Amino acid sequence: MKHLLKLLDLTPGEITEILDLADELKSELKNGTPIPRLKGKTLGMIFQKSSTRTRVSFETGMYQLGGMALFLSANDLQIGRGESVEDTARVLSRYLDGIMIRTYSQDEVERLADYGTIPVINGLTDLFHPCQVLADLMTMREYLGKDLSGKKLCFIGDGNNMANSLIVGGLKMGMSVSCACPENYRPAKAVLDFAAAYGDKFTLTDNPELAAAGADVMVTDVWASMGQENERAQRELAFKGYQVNEHIMSLANTGCIVQHCLPAHKGEEITHGVFETHAEEIFDEAENRLHAQKAVLVKLLG
Ligand code: CP
Ligand code: NVA
Repeated sequence: MKHLLKLLDLTPGEITEILDLADELKSELKNGTPIPRLKGKTLGMIFQKSSTRTRVSFETGMYQLGGMALFLSANDLQIGRGESVEDTARVLSRYLDGIMIRTYSQDEVERLADYGTIPVINGLTDLFHPCQVLADLMTMREYLGKDLSGKKLCFIGDGNNMANSLIVGGLKMGMSVSCACPENYRPAKAVLDFAAAYGDKFTLTDNPELAAAGADVMVTDVWASMGQENERAQRELAFKGYQVNEHIMSLANTGCIVQHCLPAHKGEEITHGVFETHAEEIFDEAENRLHAQKAVLVKLLG
């Protein structure tokens, strides 16, 4: 594994190795015995979009591993004035040991990896959010047991970066995945093509009740992602009914956990009640960003 650009590039074995290492790093940290596995290493973090969790967890993670992280706002980099991604990649490769990038286009992340000579980590694009889904899988293993095969993951809402990455991650871990999205907001074609090989382990519907039946993990995400702010009104109409609420939870399995990558818009994609009932799982998920990403950093930069 050279980069983390999308979960489609990883084998189930590679995902499991990351999750096992994440568990190990989490217990080392809790026991007060962390090992500085990335002493002297520097991670550059390019942000074209806002972030709370990704920025803080990567920065803290590098510090805990004995290295350091540089926050690089795209507005302040020459990239914001038109310097190409290809040249930026070749320059940053001369200074840094790794790059984390959050941006709009997946293609930009792939080009950064192609032109640079150091590992590149996708910290969210419009298409995928692999770091988040590694943390989600880590959390699912903590609540449901290490073997996720046979468990049912349900996603209700927009067929966005989270839906795309969850479908790939869930299926690769042996889960069955059901997705409820309005017709015009379906997951990406590349993801649906990938999922087609899994037969009836993957279902796509426009009916949230059908998708929720028998779920062990219920996941949702905002109706309007970063960059879609001007579509808010139209999306509020399209996604009415695509809400994780008490009725939807009553159709899931007993013990079903709830995951939300955050930030949440309570009252839209999830009710206040469901969010607060499952807050422990959701904030464990947020914490696990730190541990899962440290595992990725150790694998790629170590
Ligand atoms: N879930 C997530 O990626 O959060 P941030 O946008 O705060 O980084
Ligand atoms: N789908 C959301 C996820 C935020 C972490 C977005 O892209 O804004």
